Amino acid sequence: MIDRQTIDRILDAADIVEVVQDFVPLKKRGLNYLGLCPFHNEKTPSFTVSPSKEIFKCFGCGKAGNAVNFIMEHEHLKYPEALKYLAKKYHIEVVEKERTQEEVEKENERESLLVITAYASRQFFDNLYNTNEGISVGLGYFKERGFRQDTLKKFEVGYSFEQRDAFSKKAIEDGYRTELLVKAGLTIQHEERIYDRFSGRVMFPIHSLSGQVLGFGGRILKSDQKTAKYLNSPESEIYHKSRIVYGIYQARKAISRQNKCYMVEGYTDVMSMHEAGIENVVASSGTSLTQEQVRLIKRFTPNITILYDGDPAGIKASLRGIDLVLEEGMNVKIVLLPDGEDPDSYSKKVSNEDFSNYLKEKETDFIRFKTQLLLAESNNDPVRKAELIKDIVKSIAVIPEAITRTVYIKECSVVMDVTELVLYHEVNKLRQQKSFQERNKYPGPEVLPVPPVQTVKPLVHKITSFFSEREIIRLLLKYGSIEFERDINEEDGKEEISTVSDYIVREITNDDLSFDDGICARIFADFRFYTSQGLFPGDKHFVKHEDPEISKFSADLLAESHELSSIWKSRQTFVETEDMKLRDIVPDAVLKFKSDKIIAVRKEVMTQLEEAVNEGDQERVLMLQQRYNSLNSALGIISKQLGNRILL
Ligand code: CTP
Ligand code: MN
Repeated sequence: MIDRQTIDRILDAADIVEVVQDFVPLKKRGLNYLGLCPFHNEKTPSFTVSPSKEIFKCFGCGKAGNAVNFIMEHEHLKYPEALKYLAKKYHIEVVEKERTQEEVEKENERESLLVITAYASRQFFDNLYNTNEGISVGLGYFKERGFRQDTLKKFEVGYSFEQRDAFSKKAIEDGYRTELLVKAGLTIQHEERIYDRFSGRVMFPIHSLSGQVLGFGGRILKSDQKTAKYLNSPESEIYHKSRIVYGIYQARKAISRQNKCYMVEGYTDVMSMHEAGIENVVASSGTSLTQEQVRLIKRFTPNITILYDGDPAGIKASLRGIDLVLEEGMNVKIVLLPDGEDPDSYSKKVSNEDFSNYLKEKETDFIRFKTQLLLAESNNDPVRKAELIKDIVKSIAVIPEAITRTVYIKECSVVMDVTELVLYHEVNKLRQQKSFQERNKYPGPEVLPVPPVQTVKPLVHKITSFFSEREIIRLLLKYGSIEFERDINEEDGKEEISTVSDYIVREITNDDLSFDDGICARIFADFRFYTSQGLFPGDKHFVKHEDPEISKFSADLLAESHELSSIWKSRQTFVETEDMKLRDIVPDAVLKFKSDKIIAVRKEVMTQLEEAVNEGDQERVLMLQQRYNSLNSALGIISKQLGNRILL
């Protein structure tokens, strides 16, 4: 945990223009800076940075936020990591909250291990290019396989000498402790003797997201049946096979840009795909995917395409593991490579263009792929087909999003020739099972609506009230401190000035109304608190809020420029800006907010009324009718005040 004081220091030091300019060239335009948005493709710049507001906003794709939000978004970092990045840039010492002795020691060990793996990686790299053995054996091997120099450098591959203790000896000579070399998995200690884990192998460093070397894969050079083709670093404080995918460091930018990640099996598959011009690719390193690996990829894209080589038995075995990609709500597609080819061999066999086209053309969605694969096997045997349906239904049931499930059910019904209704029924049955819900940490008893039941209505309603909530918050942030009205206090005859924020808070609090949207509600609660103390929090309080959701939301609101409509402009002899019309805009927004709330309640009352009518509860019907009528007349009054605008 980083303490609040340090967070504030970092936020105060971070200059939004400087921070953005490290990644995006900016040009000064009036008070602001303008550039090409890094978050979507554009030819004319609509990405704006405001040094005075300390925010960025893209008017093309809508992304907005403060310096921390920018780093989180651009570098795909979590909040504390983004803060640390900025702390480093501005030379601020990060004080983390009380860590236990054990945590401190663990962290120290991690740091030491990272130093050692970085050292080892440099050694192996150096061996490959600057020693006779490295050049002839190691580099020779890569050349024979047809890898380009720039690819070898990009992946920082290296070579470990054949002599059984060459690396460990040199490392100890250079001052590295045997104990740590062993912990890093580079050295094996056997009684008094030490050996290298990897000797006579070409070395593939496995990088973290930010490029630290966590571990290695080492390949033998000859096809020798006795030794395993690849050796990998053992699990350690820094290397957890299940948490990392090979190539993510080199692929992360391309994955975001293409909004898709290809998944292959091997180190050399990744490298060859890069050579074929496809850089959004990572490898599972020959094991079945884990949830952590899937989540790592999900930070960059929800779209994952798995490349399979041949052999139906192997494919079938790995299908089960893919359900967990679906569980994460990701879209999974499959490309089956031609018989006997892996991505490495096939990409080298055909032209880059043909390879890309193959991937595009052969891509099938996961459910269809699985259905076809298993259907071919079942030979129309009804019992096996029934099993197959259950199997597919299991895959569909884990998909968290109802709409996606619906799409798959439709498709499955066509491919398998089963009615949609049966599939819905099966999926719902599964989702309602306790064991299923526990296993999938499923939050609630949501059940797919059997068509044609629609659930659209409440959604529309929620959105309506969201816009009026958002508008209230926008006015508070932008104009909260501006004088709104003056009154003479009847008791002491003194003049009292109230601000926009006083007015809004009073209107909403007096009517006991609340916000449905979580972020709006939290911002409003802050305003309410400050107003009760006779203070104004100021927009910076929110733009620099410790919750990145709040800072993003407020930056977005503050960036909006609200010019009056052109009709206004053409009728006036001078151009009015929004702040000149606050006397109208603020009360209107409050009225709109209130009417949305009343409409929501009225809807609820109507539902209850229908229930009461069905139940024949006369007393309740009368009570609810009265309630309904009074809500209606309240709405009538508000709509009059709003100038007879029609309220839905
Ligand atoms: N693998 C491993 N240990 C092995 C064999 C394989 O860890 N004994 C992992 C490696 O990460 C390897 C991946 O599984 O990259 C895929 O294995 P395979 O397809 O056999 O190797 P290729 O990637 O094709 O390697 P190469 O092209 O160098 O033969
Ligand atoms: Mn291969």
